[in-house]
Amino acid sequence: MDSFGKLFRIHIFGESHGLGVGVTIDGVPAGLPLTIKDFNDDLNKRRSGAKGTTPRKEADQPRFLSGIFHDHTTGTPLTILFENTNTRSEDYSKLREIPRPGHADFVATKKFGGFEDYRGGGHFSGRLTLGLVAAGVVAKKLLGSIHIQARLIEAGGTTDIRKAIDKAVEDQDSVGGIVECSVKGLPVGLGEPFFDSVESVLSHMIFSIPAIKGIEFGSGFMAAKMKGSEHNDNIVSMDGKTETNNAGGINGGITNGNEMVFRVAVKPTSSTSKKQHTMNMKTGKMDNLEVQGRHDTCIALRVPVVLEAATAVVLTDFMIQEQKIPKIYRGK
Ligand SMILES: Cc1cc2nc3c(=O)[nH]c(=O)nc-3n(C[C@H](O)[C@H](O)[C@H](O)COP(=O)(O)O)c2cc1C
Repeated sequence: MDSFGKLFRIHIFGESHGLGVGVTIDGVPAGLPLTIKDFNDDLNKRRSGAKGTTPRKEADQPRFLSGIFHDHTTGTPLTILFENTNTRSEDYSKLREIPRPGHADFVATKKFGGFEDYRGGGHFSGRLTLGLVAAGVVAKKLLGSIHIQARLIEAGGTTDIRKAIDKAVEDQDSVGGIVECSVKGLPVGLGEPFFDSVESVLSHMIFSIPAIKGIEFGSGFMAAKMKGSEHNDNIVSMDGKTETNNAGGINGGITNGNEMVFRVAVKPTSSTSKKQHTMNMKTGKMDNLEVQGRHDTCIALRVPVVLEAATAVVLTDFMIQEQKIPKIYRGK
């Protein structure tokens, strides 16, 4: 479904070329100072414009529809809307006949019986992450000194990100990437055994971000190649600090007081102007497709702030569950 969380619960809505996209957040403590200015930094980070991102330019101006009074949260559902102002829906009509390989066009039509708003990828568009980033802004404020940072560490299989992007743009193809996220200042004890381990809930949330195809915590898949004596993180202080951090800050699904570290794999954008050979649903024959429209060459360039937001939302929910964030905000 489009809702996520227990006590800090977000509901994402909208379509890429409809009236707008946004988020309703339930469970925001009352009294949190919040104005439109708070959103500027993270919305700018998500915005397109850099080489390798879509030429579609949107104002991305947030509007509070509910839950704010006198620049403070009220404690009732907070709804934030972003209107779509720059749509070119004619680019997408051909995709009714030839669904883009790798995109959600085919499954969306089958699942919703053709009633889905297919324009610009509809509800499956990366634009839906705008609501998530907005929720992340609120969550980050509630988390106070807990600091979340994500960055792109690899694109197109190389750490020379600029080179990978230049090449992909030149080839008129797309590339994926790896984004690493770290969280400092977490208390020991967030997360629940058995099904609500921090890894499980974070992964659940993070796989909701379109185009995410993998996640690893700490040493991740490398752990399978290590010996126990190498992989174990020796505890060096009474508050649980460890010498190494192969666990990525989580043991038994519960935060251990060390830095949390994980990486996600972002796939190459499925919409590329390279010729692809795929099924034409009208004729029942294979056909050629060169995707028109405006698209990101490397989605991973725009993922870091989205990943931070997803992480902030999950951690805020855990912090509220642990009663570390009270129902009425009293400052940091
Ligand atoms: C920030 C962001 C921007 C995206 N931009 C595009 C895009 O321009 N073109 C495209 O085909 N997919 C884009 N995507 C990915 C699609 O939304 C996604 O591939 C599609 O919904 C299918 O889902 P899946 O890749 O998770 O299977 C973007 C994703 C994100 C997170």
